[in-house]
Amino acid sequence: MTLDGNTLVYGLFGYPVKHSKSPTFQTAVFQHLGINAVYVPFQVKPEDIEKAVESLRVLDIKGVNVTIPHKENVIPYLNEISEEVKVIKAVNTIKNIDGYLIGYNTDWYGFIEGLKEIMPDIAGKRVLVIGAGGSSRAIIYGLLNQGVGKIYLANRTIKRAENLIEDFSNFYRIVKMIIKPISLDEINRILNEVELIVNTTSVGLNEDDPEIFDYNLINSSHTVVDIIYEETKLLQKAKEKNANYQNGYPMLIYQGAKSFEIWTGKPAPIEVMKRAIGV
Ligand code: ATR
Repeated sequence: MTLDGNTLVYGLFGYPVKHSKSPTFQTAVFQHLGINAVYVPFQVKPEDIEKAVESLRVLDIKGVNVTIPHKENVIPYLNEISEEVKVIKAVNTIKNIDGYLIGYNTDWYGFIEGLKEIMPDIAGKRVLVIGAGGSSRAIIYGLLNQGVGKIYLANRTIKRAENLIEDFSNFYRIVKMIIKPISLDEINRILNEVELIVNTTSVGLNEDDPEIFDYNLINSSHTVVDIIYEETKLLQKAKEKNANYQNGYPMLIYQGAKSFEIWTGKPAPIEVMKRAIGV
């Protein structure tokens, strides 16, 4: 595709952005569909995020994804946020309509669509979610949206899990009946009760990271999702125990597909995206 005066600009705000795969698969989709657009990585320092958001209006950049560490910090500078952002309190997608900026969160959708590849029916399921940060909030929003039966929310800092539940209960009255906060030490005891295990923390990113719980307790009736891209110890053990398992790539692909749809109004071809990054 040749660039010309009509080429539309999309991109990614993050810090760092160098290892992101989004420019590769978003560009592949633009090319595949013959859309005259580019998707550019923008490394934005935390202290510059307000100026970066303003630059969307100034330069007429049509849309960006937002990643660590800006997902919460962009919110005050937008004109509007969608309903899911009010609950999740994080934005990963901005659409620019003639200078009017709308913030969305597609991470929850990415997680659910990815999960459906290995667990088609999530309704009524009992789940262990490890971590209570931004990713966890998006994933819990998605699970609640699918009618999940029960969530054990395990976090190193239990107060943070309790705060998440308190916060979500302002939006969904039954949250306190569905989500139970537990410490990391309690995971071993409840593992047999759950069908799905989701790690949303960064534990496992480094090879010498300790196990979060006793991974030997995983069995073939479990489905295990780690949102880290590389194959972690947790996923290796899931594989060894014949459990269903998934890494972070499906979530990444599907959140990007939803962002693409928000920006262009067109569905994104998933296979093209996957092929572009070799997953
Ligand atoms: P993200 O947006 O990726 O979810 P975050 O909001 O910084 O990132 O949340 C990180 C999560 O990983 C938290 O649940 C954090 O636990 P605390 O709330 O106790 O900080 C968890 N986490 C990070 N490092 C951890 C570690 N070494 N052991 C256990 N949990 C860890």
